[in-house]
Amino acid sequence: MQRLYRKRIVLGVGGGIAAYKSAELVRRLRDQGAEVRVVMTQGGREFITPLTLQALSGHPVHLDLLDAAAEAAMGHIELARWADLVLIAPATADLMARLAQGIANDLLTTLVLATDAQVALAPAMNQAMWRDPATQANAELLQQRGIRLFGPGAGSQACGDIGMGRMLEADDLAQRAADCFQRNVLDGVRLLITAGPTQENIDPVRYITNHSSGKMGFALAEAAVEAGAQVTLVSGPVFLPTPDRVQRIDVVSARDMLAACEASMPADILIAAAAVADYRPEVVAAHKLKKDPNSGDGLYLQMVRNPDILATLAGRPDRPFSVGFAAETENLLEYASGKLKAKNLDLIVANDVANPSIGFNSEENAITVIDRQLRQTAFAQTSKGKIARQLITFIADRYQAR
Ligand code: C5P
Repeated sequence: MQRLYRKRIVLGVGGGIAAYKSAELVRRLRDQGAEVRVVMTQGGREFITPLTLQALSGHPVHLDLLDAAAEAAMGHIELARWADLVLIAPATADLMARLAQGIANDLLTTLVLATDAQVALAPAMNQAMWRDPATQANAELLQQRGIRLFGPGAGSQACGDIGMGRMLEADDLAQRAADCFQRNVLDGVRLLITAGPTQENIDPVRYITNHSSGKMGFALAEAAVEAGAQVTLVSGPVFLPTPDRVQRIDVVSARDMLAACEASMPADILIAAAAVADYRPEVVAAHKLKKDPNSGDGLYLQMVRNPDILATLAGRPDRPFSVGFAAETENLLEYASGKLKAKNLDLIVANDVANPSIGFNSEENAITVIDRQLRQTAFAQTSKGKIARQLITFIADRYQAR
């Protein structure tokens, strides 16, 4: 079995003699099914040529932050988003120090700051440099921030010393890279996700909608694909690119969304992250409504209830494992657990949209998940990408244990 099947790895090559092993590492990662893009530091290029790594990875090597041609092909932010894992091998003492300080003075360090993906380092340096308190403190700090360290190993070194600081062998690094991924917790699982707002037409030029950006639903789709799921994403009107390997269906109104979801069934898991309009105008005017001189100051629109997509799907005989969202501005947990029961859900994700740093359209989120036994699990505030991965892991666990 290829343990890195379709995984996307950015391999960062720093300036150490162990860079000669990076060529072998590209081979081993690809043997495991990974797609590899190589980024080299200036120092890395002194030890091994970009041409070697280009030939082995099958893609041009990324070298400079300010290279217009490379940026046009695949920009550094795009590369940061593309990656499922950024693996830096060799990671020199200098690179570790810059990463620990959050310095972004070349392509590789910038990419590490910009990525939401996991980051792992394979330190490689002289044993005295590794033992130095500065390096040790940097290693500690990087690990506290969630960056993994693979090694270093002990043994004889290129400089003639013996001790800790050798870069691990390519085979070992490839296995550890594979260990970074949830072992396909959602392998083959069909996931249906709703995202974004809906728009309910009033007349040909006006509609009613809400502030949902779709970011959370799109982040969930991406995390679910990473975890091996087959994802269908039914989205209202949003300004977001489709995550790779996701089947996206665009809809406008709540009724369109329901129809698209029903057509996408059966699904094993449903995550309803869309902010569906609860009401729509009873009649959509055929022509643009005019200011009516007889109606005084007001315009009265008769509204009717929209179908509840989540409750409808969770009520089917072939109901998926159903996860809802409760975006509230007050009495968060009480309202959320009420919805869990009313809509017959397995889990509900409560988030406080009154807090502007985690509300609609924000980059971050903080959530509490409530299950049928009303047990609560809180996830601290972080980027929507990170929350999405934590949430997918949690949902996968509960789905497997159902
Ligand atoms: O009842 P409320 O709209 O607060 O419930 C929120 C949850 O129900 C969300 O998961 C949302 O996606 C889903 N929902 C739906 N269809 C509706 C209204 C809400 O799927 N018409």
